[in-house]
Amino acid sequence: MDAFSKALQADKREIIIAPTIYKCANFAEFAEEFKLNERDCVLTNEFIYKPFMEELNLPCNFVFQEKFGVGEPSEAMIQTMYDAIPYDSYDRVIAVGGGAIMDLCKLLGCKRPASIHEMYFKREPFIHEKEVIAIPTTCGTGSEVTNISVAIVKDEKDGVLTGGETKLGLVSDDMIPNKVCLVPDMLKTLPYKPFASSAIDALIHATESFLSPHRKTMTSEMFSIKAMELILEGFRRIGEDGPDARFGYLEEFSIASTYAGIAFLKAGCATVHGMSFPLGGTYHVPHGESNYALFGKIMEIYDEMDPNGEILEFKKLVARITGCKVDNAIAYLNELLEKVLHLKPLREYGFKESDIKDFPVSVEANQQRLITNSYIQPWTRELMERVYRECY
Ligand SMILES: NC(=O)c1ccc[n+]([C@@H]2O[C@H](COP(=O)([O-])OP(=O)(O)OC[C@H]3O[C@@H](n4cnc5c(N)ncnc54)[C@H](O)[C@@H]3O)[C@@H](O)[C@H]2O)c1
Ligand SMILES: [Fe+2]
Repeated sequence: MDAFSKALQADKREIIIAPTIYKCANFAEFAEEFKLNERDCVLTNEFIYKPFMEELNLPCNFVFQEKFGVGEPSEAMIQTMYDAIPYDSYDRVIAVGGGAIMDLCKLLGCKRPASIHEMYFKREPFIHEKEVIAIPTTCGTGSEVTNISVAIVKDEKDGVLTGGETKLGLVSDDMIPNKVCLVPDMLKTLPYKPFASSAIDALIHATESFLSPHRKTMTSEMFSIKAMELILEGFRRIGEDGPDARFGYLEEFSIASTYAGIAFLKAGCATVHGMSFPLGGTYHVPHGESNYALFGKIMEIYDEMDPNGEILEFKKLVARITGCKVDNAIAYLNELLEKVLHLKPLREYGFKESDIKDFPVSVEANQQRLITNSYIQPWTRELMERVYRECY
């Protein structure tokens, strides 16, 4: 095991809730509470700014992420953002958006690195300097409470560029936002597909934390369970009444994703995230969707290989919340998720047969932090090949 994963497992903290968490009814209430001013840099999207912020005529500097490129953060996007927003032009950073915007804002809050690539590969330190306030407008990543910023970076093997790309999480407790404000009302413009994939991402955070063999604590488990209760009830409603059922339940989805973020900051994400990162990095599959593509299969294999460990408690929990049978809980969960979002085989994302062997090599090289948290230990290259093959 690498030294970093070892240090995470030796961490004796019961739970980490670093930011002060607020809840406001709308953006106007937030702006008033935080006295937004001209030294605030608000990073958001124009389509979030227009309905929620424009009419307030606030004095801050609004910057739209789409100016820097489309999709999830990459080394190039971060550099373009740094070039566009001079470091001395702001005192506070306000992130209003999904996980991508929150992850970018963590990088606006730090000392500018000489090389973004070197910082992601831990050869240059991350140094926090400016206050960051996060308002999540999706209900998935939990990034508002976590110490991770994820980006698509040039892939390396043994310190040498491979010519490909992968996703990598830069981790430092210094990057946890200082404050979080939940404004569930802002989720109402989120289209159904990113809503569903982000909510599934939150469910996966809660699940991976619940099953985390070395790092979960009694308190992280409590946050995992509550997040699962809220999300599965929301999914039940969507399964029965269709996508619009979410509108009466946005507050619960918003709270659940923050709870799941608190759970995984301590307990850690695992195999699903580790194995989805090359998929997201290579084929630009959105984060929640790339996790979803592998989640059901990985749960089936966990259950097949060690059905009486912690996964039994997980199945009892799913059965208690949904009313399904314990024995059938994994299959029931996968059927429920299919009602929320159709599961696509990997080849529909561009995944090639050769990736079945290549991706596990990248995961072993770069995602040890996640793979060492697997419910099945060790999570071997053969098991990874099986997952990719059976999801292909
Ligand atoms: N830091 C962490 O702990 C952590 C954890 C998991 C994932 N991530 C990262 O987070 C990102 C994924 O985040 P995400 O799932 O929130 O997706 P996202 O940030 O990419 O947002 C999804 C889409 O929804 C749009 N959107 C967001 N809020 C909206 C709203 N209220 N109304 C209308 N449109 C809206 C966005 O512009 C985008 O097109 C990835 O880059 C992933 O790597 C970070
Ligand atoms: Fe995630």
